[in-house]
Amino acid sequence: MAEIPDRNLGLDLARVTETAAMAAARWQGRGDKEAADQAAVDGMRAHLGTLSLDGVVVIGEGEKDEAPMLHNGEIVGNGDGRPVDIAVDPVDGTTLTAAGMPGALAVIAVAERGTMFFPGSMVYMDKIAVGPAARGVIDLDAPVDRNLTRVAKAKGSDVNDLTVMILDRPRNEPYIKAVREAGARIRLIRDGDVSGAIATARDDSGIDMLLGIGGTPEGVLAAAAMRCMGGEIQGRLWARHDEDRERAAEEGFDLNDVLETRDLVGGTNVSFAATGITGGEFLRGVTFTGPGAITHSVMMRAKTGSVRYMDAFHNLSKLNEFSSVEYG
Ligand code: FBP
Repeated sequence: MAEIPDRNLGLDLARVTETAAMAAARWQGRGDKEAADQAAVDGMRAHLGTLSLDGVVVIGEGEKDEAPMLHNGEIVGNGDGRPVDIAVDPVDGTTLTAAGMPGALAVIAVAERGTMFFPGSMVYMDKIAVGPAARGVIDLDAPVDRNLTRVAKAKGSDVNDLTVMILDRPRNEPYIKAVREAGARIRLIRDGDVSGAIATARDDSGIDMLLGIGGTPEGVLAAAAMRCMGGEIQGRLWARHDEDRERAAEEGFDLNDVLETRDLVGGTNVSFAATGITGGEFLRGVTFTGPGAITHSVMMRAKTGSVRYMDAFHNLSKLNEFSSVEYG
């Protein structure tokens, strides 16, 4: 049955991430990651309330380091539209923002109600992600060299042509060692594995695979982006210590389970948007121009596979005359 084009939430969502990014960007390089995060959370919350949807926050972030957050279970939107699950990360890269380093993003994803993975109190996830060219050949349970060989074959290249992005953390040392032994190249990142996963699906990034243990919320957000871009992510909840293991058992999680992309974000009408806070390879950061600000965002949708980039000029003097959101 042919459908007429339906509503794309992309612009609505990008306006939310733009607001968060502009608020956080005021704190760029000022050494206060909490303040950057709080500003972004406040901006995001104020704007989310205006959206024509009936949303519940499934991924609110913040629990890992007791950062400011949109709470899991928080109801957002004006209640008018379709019932949806919402995942947000007002700042993916709070440390990057506080240090004025590249790569921080404001991120949001939306999918039909009940289709996003709820990770309970499990804050870390072991992840592997690849772009569309290597979808279907990875296996989080397989040794690193086997995954690299399969990805190289799928991409018509050699293992030593591949570049793997890994969060630079002691817990990821075994991955770093295994990739080096296999002969592939590595790009270590200090933070920001949502854009790390997205990089695998962008032809111009030079990144073939994301590997390693990062945040669970970021895993769900990355899955939403991968659903839109045709890539693949697999994740396994990762326990830091016995307390995590006990809590996982209490909450009904099997720490051996591999979650596929669609286990993390199911549904068909998945939307994703992000705005750069500090400039990086994926999105440019916020520029303040006296009376205004310039933002760079991406909007994607799984149903249609559309990926749009948007530059926006925000006239802050005008906005500050009437908006309930403080633009600084
Ligand atoms: P925040 O800025 O939200 O703290 O996240 C940054 C980040 O690097 C994520 O991209 C990543 O998934 C997670 O932190 C890794 O956690 P940790 O910094 O605790 O190792």
